[in-house]
Amino acid sequence: MVAAAVYGERWRLVFLGALLFSGLVLEFGQCQQEEEVRTPTPSRKPKPSKGKLATGAAKATPKSKIKATLAPPVAANQGPAHLTQVINKGKFQRVRDSLIVQSGGTLELRCRGKPVSWSVPDYLEEDNEGRLRIVQHDRYSTLTLSNSTGADTGEYTCFPMYCEDRDCRKQYNKAVTVFVFFPDPQELFVPSASYYEVIQLRTNWPTVLPCQVTSPDAKVSLHREFPPGEVTVDGAEITFNVKRGFTIHRPKPHHAGELYCVASLGRLRQSSVKYMLIYVNYPVAPPTPVIQASSSSVAIGQNLQVICTVIGEPDMVIDFTWDYPGQQIGRPMYTQESVHPVDGGPERQQSQSVLQVDEVREVDGGTYTCTAENLQGSRNTTTVVQVLVASATSRTKVKAKPKKP
Ligand SMILES: *[C@@H]1O[C@H](CO)[C@@H](O)[C@H](O)[C@H]1NC(C)=O
Ligand SMILES: *[C@@H]1O[C@H](CO)[C@@H](O)[C@H](O)[C@H]1NC(C)=O
Repeated sequence: MVAAAVYGERWRLVFLGALLFSGLVLEFGQCQQEEEVRTPTPSRKPKPSKGKLATGAAKATPKSKIKATLAPPVAANQGPAHLTQVINKGKFQRVRDSLIVQSGGTLELRCRGKPVSWSVPDYLEEDNEGRLRIVQHDRYSTLTLSNSTGADTGEYTCFPMYCEDRDCRKQYNKAVTVFVFFPDPQELFVPSASYYEVIQLRTNWPTVLPCQVTSPDAKVSLHREFPPGEVTVDGAEITFNVKRGFTIHRPKPHHAGELYCVASLGRLRQSSVKYMLIYVNYPVAPPTPVIQASSSSVAIGQNLQVICTVIGEPDMVIDFTWDYPGQQIGRPMYTQESVHPVDGGPERQQSQSVLQVDEVREVDGGTYTCTAENLQGSRNTTTVVQVLVASATSRTKVKAKPKKP
């Protein structure tokens, strides 16, 4: 049935693939070298670091040079980036939204702008073994990825930078992205670092099973481990996109379980890593608490109750927390929580927390805040309680807010 790939070996296979194709690359590489020799800044050998591939001239170029070469801010603020693929020496091709480069080959992209910043698949940012080179030229930047493998498949984005003096920032609205496939004759799936991936399925949140293939021609299907069988991809509830994988648009409890993808191309048939889908009942929004004190003004010695109520979806846990004036001095207060269904209308539930203040003291006057939290977030609401200090002359003193005359 499904070719059982030994996942632990995947990385090794990828590197083996790189070796097998290295012969092919040598010739190609030669041309690259010739061009790079003419690069005016040989000192600029960018060492892409984790998570950041900014190649703004600002970092690598001596200060004196920056002033001379940086275009004034207005000029740098051109239209959207322009991305071309260098297909041969001196031959360019405007890129569309995706490209195919046979694994083992070299990807060379050129992006107009100075300076520009690139983003590449995560795995490449961390571990590219010197295969990735980014060079900023006068009016454009080149990204060269040599000895490519199927694992390099993913999005490559060029961000034109907007600079004021040496302060540069990415212009996200002008970015151009190209998705590059590196079809690998041995690896239909982009290798994953782990054998298992745990994915949370949240109610009504689209969930992606990122079984990314290295070739756009691969046929991909979705399968369930128990009970074994193919999952119907109807194009509505579940869709497939060759650049992303499968998307479950409105997860329901029945989508949970262990799933995996199967890709086939020609005579090759492989399965992806396993995705453990765990269903989490998610509320649609953070709770909206409503607060009410048993009385907005209490005399010293009386009891006070502050009630915080949330009406929401059934079976959703609400966590209540309180902030109150007596907190700082450690006034003991206790809360009582309860949940019950709301009668009538659609299925709703009322969650309530009651803060009990026994024998109110002067220090209990002030603002009471109730914070209600669910998996979507938290919201708070407040009420002000005045403590009436009865004196011999029945003078009223307000602790929380000075009373207006
Ligand atoms: C590509 O692979 C060949 C052969 O293994 C190697 O000699 C060359 O240095 C590699 N190029 C890069 C940029 O890693
Ligand atoms: C209440 O919510 C507001 C707005 O979200 C936040 O700024 C404030 O810190 C919250 N107060 C408490 C006591 O959590």
